[in-house]
Amino acid sequence: MNVLGLNAFHGDSAACLFVDGQLVSAAEEERFRRIKHWAGFPAQAIEFCLNENRLTLADIDVVAINSDSSAARFRKMAFALSGQASLKLIKEKVLVRQKRMSLAEHFEHAFGEVPGHAVYEHVEHHLAHLASAYLVSPFEQASVISIDGFGDFASAATGFGNGAELSLDQRVFFPHSMGVFYQALTQYLGFPHYGDEYKVMGLAPYGQPHFKEQMDAIVRETDGGQFKLNLEFFQHHKNAIGYEWEDNEPKVSRLYSDTLLDLLGPPRTKEQPLQQVHKDLARSIQDKYERVFFHMLWAMHQRDQTDSVCVAGGCGMNSVANGKIHLQTPFANVYVQSAAGDAGGAIGAATIACQRHGESKRHSMSHAYLGPQFSDQHCKQLIAENRDALDASNCEVAFDLSLAKLTDRVSDLIIQGKVIGWFQGAMEWGPRALGNRSILGDPRRSDMKDILNLKIKRRESFRPFAPSVLRREVSSWFESDADVPFMMKVFQIKESKRDLIPAVTHVDGSGRLQTVTKESNAGYHALIEKFFAKTQVPMLLNTSFNENEPVVCHPQEALDCFLRTNMDVLALGSHLIYRRS
Ligand SMILES: [Fe+2]
Repeated sequence: MNVLGLNAFHGDSAACLFVDGQLVSAAEEERFRRIKHWAGFPAQAIEFCLNENRLTLADIDVVAINSDSSAARFRKMAFALSGQASLKLIKEKVLVRQKRMSLAEHFEHAFGEVPGHAVYEHVEHHLAHLASAYLVSPFEQASVISIDGFGDFASAATGFGNGAELSLDQRVFFPHSMGVFYQALTQYLGFPHYGDEYKVMGLAPYGQPHFKEQMDAIVRETDGGQFKLNLEFFQHHKNAIGYEWEDNEPKVSRLYSDTLLDLLGPPRTKEQPLQQVHKDLARSIQDKYERVFFHMLWAMHQRDQTDSVCVAGGCGMNSVANGKIHLQTPFANVYVQSAAGDAGGAIGAATIACQRHGESKRHSMSHAYLGPQFSDQHCKQLIAENRDALDASNCEVAFDLSLAKLTDRVSDLIIQGKVIGWFQGAMEWGPRALGNRSILGDPRRSDMKDILNLKIKRRESFRPFAPSVLRREVSSWFESDADVPFMMKVFQIKESKRDLIPAVTHVDGSGRLQTVTKESNAGYHALIEKFFAKTQVPMLLNTSFNENEPVVCHPQEALDCFLRTNMDVLALGSHLIYRRS
């Protein structure tokens, strides 16, 4: 049975494919369209999933999508009649609903045909989130939480997984949302783009939680592991500000009301320099999010009495909070899937659809390398086609290196302080570069962050870079020995080690690590092993391969990024491109 899973008409539109219960391909549409967080119908991701597995739309048995407009119908009606919403808001909601209902028309429009005999399965947004984590997790039993902006009129849900069974036990409904809380305050701090919340998370350690009282006025924990926004500070429930798309890039207009200015003063503009007050606010926002999150987790633990938890939803990307779960709650084991946000809903919808049709009840996701891949021959041809541009940039190419030679040379170059584009194998599923579409550097150099920002990334200086660490060495360097294959948890680096790896140590002594095994990524593992043997440091600085754009997908995009920036070296499959110095 071929099941196509979709996240469509939400940010991070995506598609995945299960063949006979096995997850074989998955990718986000933004990588093909080259527009961050692309939010429409994921036609190119669908095309990739089909082509990669030599299938056509006629071979698809089930199309599953992570939204169900019939969910919470009575609550929606009650809210519309309550007088809290404007007519414009209600109209917009109806329009979005109509758009989602015509899935077959979207196929027809994109492909000139529909998946002939396929059954359409609509899976409630948060049930899809819960499934996207638990049903691919290694746990036999776990509490499961989904927490984000909104989907199908809810912003959070909790459930319980036991064997193949997954229940959705509790929801938090519109207009209360921790995703909206975090996003509204992110806007207030002068970070206006969809997905900018991670900047606030990065800024938080520079401040103190001096605004605790104000945060408690904005959102409060309530009985039974729930929470409530003080709606005076928001306007998302009144006006049709929602989530607008321009060229299918999600754009969010102001979520907070003028009353917030009475509480916190004038907002920071994008251009205004960051002051201590902004850092203190960032810390207070993160602190409040964590308190609500742990409040929900404690209630779940009391209900379920299990020691494992799966986390999903946009807020599931809050790796700082995820890394504190084992310290702040009774949960000892934590699983976060590589696409914890809305893209992951494609997997959740597909796994629920598999169950509805009697297919494999549990699934495994041992790695995230589920996207497009390109042969060494393809890369070689591309290098030949780009020869003039490479010559103009004074580049030299070493072709067809064995893995041993490639990793030997690249580890030497990293030690020399070079910035390496590392493009190998299949693209990662989810927002993090995990060693196949990565830019790498030496974690020991205190100037590496500045070098990277100067040469390529040009991002805010307060944002940290992350380490990829040999799995077996984690406990020697971090205050934890957990698996973090998808870079979704932040842990404290051992105090005695911090000075050895300044480029990946954040101001509060933390690091957002990725654990690497030979089984999950043999080539990347071999490179870190080489670096370890030469330096006694079992990790590399790893940041995503891009320059203010979606992470590169195709080798031509990697080559363009290399030529456009001041990257020193590009390992394109088995070929190594250097700039002559
Ligand atoms: Fe969501």
